[in-house]
Amino acid sequence: MKVFVTRRLPGGALDRLAAAHDVEVWPEQMPPGREELLARAPDLDGLLSLLTDPVDAELIAAAPRLKAISNYAVGVDNVDLEAAAARGIPVGNTPDVLTDTTADLAVALMLGISRHLVEGDAYVRRGEWRTWETGLLLGHDLHGSTVGIVGFGRIGQAVARRLEGFGCEILHTSRRGGVRFDELLERSEFVTLHCPLTAETRGLIGDEALARMQPTAYLVNTARGPIVDSEALARALRAGRIAGAALDVTDPEPIPGGHPLLDAPNLLVLPHLGSATEATRARMADMAVDNLLAGLAGEPMPHSVT
Ligand code: DGY
Repeated sequence: MKVFVTRRLPGGALDRLAAAHDVEVWPEQMPPGREELLARAPDLDGLLSLLTDPVDAELIAAAPRLKAISNYAVGVDNVDLEAAAARGIPVGNTPDVLTDTTADLAVALMLGISRHLVEGDAYVRRGEWRTWETGLLLGHDLHGSTVGIVGFGRIGQAVARRLEGFGCEILHTSRRGGVRFDELLERSEFVTLHCPLTAETRGLIGDEALARMQPTAYLVNTARGPIVDSEALARALRAGRIAGAALDVTDPEPIPGGHPLLDAPNLLVLPHLGSATEATRARMADMAVDNLLAGLAGEPMPHSVT
């Protein structure tokens, strides 16, 4: 069957796919454009997409033979799940294998922003470090702090397990329970986001939510950029309404060089590295290929959301 893979994947998983099907792998660093995707759609039986590829209703409609979509991510907000379900096309994702890797990064971001790791490094490299100073780059402790986890699924719970070792008090809120969202914002010294991007969570952290946070509190986002209103965050950071923000994901993503958020103080920003370890990305590739192989064979995918 004809399969399009929208980027090269780490590890050897694509060899297994190519052994079974007629596979084209997009060779560029940048994602295929809309025209490239639409041009291939009429002949496609399977699609292995990344979170950067909008697999929307138009694309799905343009692919009458499409039998399986496998997304190389746990998040599937780039895929129109309703359009896929309406055609009976299973959509695979890559849960579990990236949980701990992403949770590690969330904790790293908490420490990075609250202990001024990036500023400290830049300060030394600029040759400005003259002596040990009592008041240099003083931060806030993660250990013993109250951490609010928004979204208490696999990754949120993995963050909580790590923070038990830091002696943190954990608050959480999710669709299934926990404390009220407002209470979490008001009481937390760190607010860390681990919910999926949905119509309900888009813009969840806007002016109102930021105003409820403590002025000494930090916001951490390793989930999806649009959960945070970038302009509201830039305003809050400039006004000192929160102590800082550490973002692995942004809106827009990639965030362009001159974006106003990047000029805001007390911001640490990374290029969506949550799952970016060699082992985890290779496991994600295996899982994405297993999902696609199963979907193309008409069997249940090992991990699917539809
Ligand atoms: C995901 O899988 O959704 C992450 O954002 C990237 O690994």
